[in-house]
Amino acid sequence: MRKIFLFESNRDITNLIKNAIQNEFDDEVKNVSNVEEAIKEISMGDYDLIITRNTVGGDEGISARFLDAISSSNIDSKLISIGQIESESEFLVGALPDKFNMSELLNLIKQGLSAEKSDGLVSYLELKMEVVELINKTNFDLYTRMRRPGKEDQYVKKINIGDGTEAIRALKEKGVKNLFLEKQNRIQFTKDLVKQVGREINIDFNDFSEIMQTGESVYRLARKLIAELGTNEISYRLINCLAEEMIGNLKKSKNNIGEYIYASMEHTTSYSYKHLNLIGIFCYISLPFIEMMEEKKDAYLDQFIYAAYFHDIILDEEGMAEIHTKKDWLDCHFEEKKKHLIRDHAKLASELLAKFPGSSQEAVQIVKEHHGVPSGVGFTDRKSGTLSEPSVFFDVIHDFVELFLNFPPDGSLDNMLKELEESYQSSVYKKYAHILKQGIVDTFKEEN
Ligand SMILES: [Fe+2]
Ligand SMILES: [Fe+2]
Repeated sequence: MRKIFLFESNRDITNLIKNAIQNEFDDEVKNVSNVEEAIKEISMGDYDLIITRNTVGGDEGISARFLDAISSSNIDSKLISIGQIESESEFLVGALPDKFNMSELLNLIKQGLSAEKSDGLVSYLELKMEVVELINKTNFDLYTRMRRPGKEDQYVKKINIGDGTEAIRALKEKGVKNLFLEKQNRIQFTKDLVKQVGREINIDFNDFSEIMQTGESVYRLARKLIAELGTNEISYRLINCLAEEMIGNLKKSKNNIGEYIYASMEHTTSYSYKHLNLIGIFCYISLPFIEMMEEKKDAYLDQFIYAAYFHDIILDEEGMAEIHTKKDWLDCHFEEKKKHLIRDHAKLASELLAKFPGSSQEAVQIVKEHHGVPSGVGFTDRKSGTLSEPSVFFDVIHDFVELFLNFPPDGSLDNMLKELEESYQSSVYKKYAHILKQGIVDTFKEEN
């Protein structure tokens, strides 16, 4: 079944169009009523066709914004605009006047949906070998591409439905770096991938080292995909899966937090993955001490964990995420381009997360402000409480984790927490340093 996305504010017209499409094509139609949400949905590339009104309420030029989203996300959904527009975009099937006949729309839909097939060619999606390797058994045929000078590329089937890891490994040994999937299977492929990765992380919950190692390799892969391809569906779904696993695991190991902390430090190799796990853990154990309605705490934890996974996601070289102060930044030895990336990473990562379907405003804000700077650019030596409270808390935990990772063998946790609290001038920061302390004292009291 193909998927169609509809953006139309008038409920009667929405229903008419939906019914007409379902009668005529039996296709699934989804609609949302907010432009920003719609752009996130579209960018995931799940839709074959997008039908949108160009002007809704005070919002104008919606068709052009959607077309931009299609081309900047490297997807190839087609678009029909209700309301005339001028555009040379290859993704535009056609534009209708504001008042249109349903038969005109149905004609354009037919054109839009057949555009891909009319040239008789199947289109393919490139998959990196590291992504394919995450799969234990493929439910789709996979191909390699042969470039032929002056002619169309040729795709040769190398992996058959049902093939397992050996077939993939054999290709890898031959030096194959990427495989191709028929584009029409991309949604199901990603769903399978996430299911298999999820199962992998969750193989044996008691084995923390397994959880950490698999989780870390998935995180590194997602980070690499984002660095190379920008926003993309596979990496988002992978991170989504990791975040959900972490939330589940935290809840399951409520009485086992010491071990979870130990595993985060012992079984991971990268600083980023170590410290994002610790951020998640320390948030979780402090949660009971935050004044908030009980039923809101789950959502609060979700935001925090998503923020933890995304906050340094674009810092893909070891050492970059360890820069936390102006001085670190001035003294670091990264090349100019990387230095700019480090300076702007909070802002850039928040923009990335904002494009993620379903990402919350709160998580986006935490990511943007995670170094204590409201604009998300640069670092500050004077933390002030002008951020949102969850951002302050994230920053406090982030500072604490840094101390914790460098904890001297003869150090005292009590002193460390006291120093942290005293190092802040702002009362909001002090308040959250105190909450963190309560969480830690309580956890270790119960464990001993
Ligand atoms: Fe960080
Ligand atoms: Fe950061």
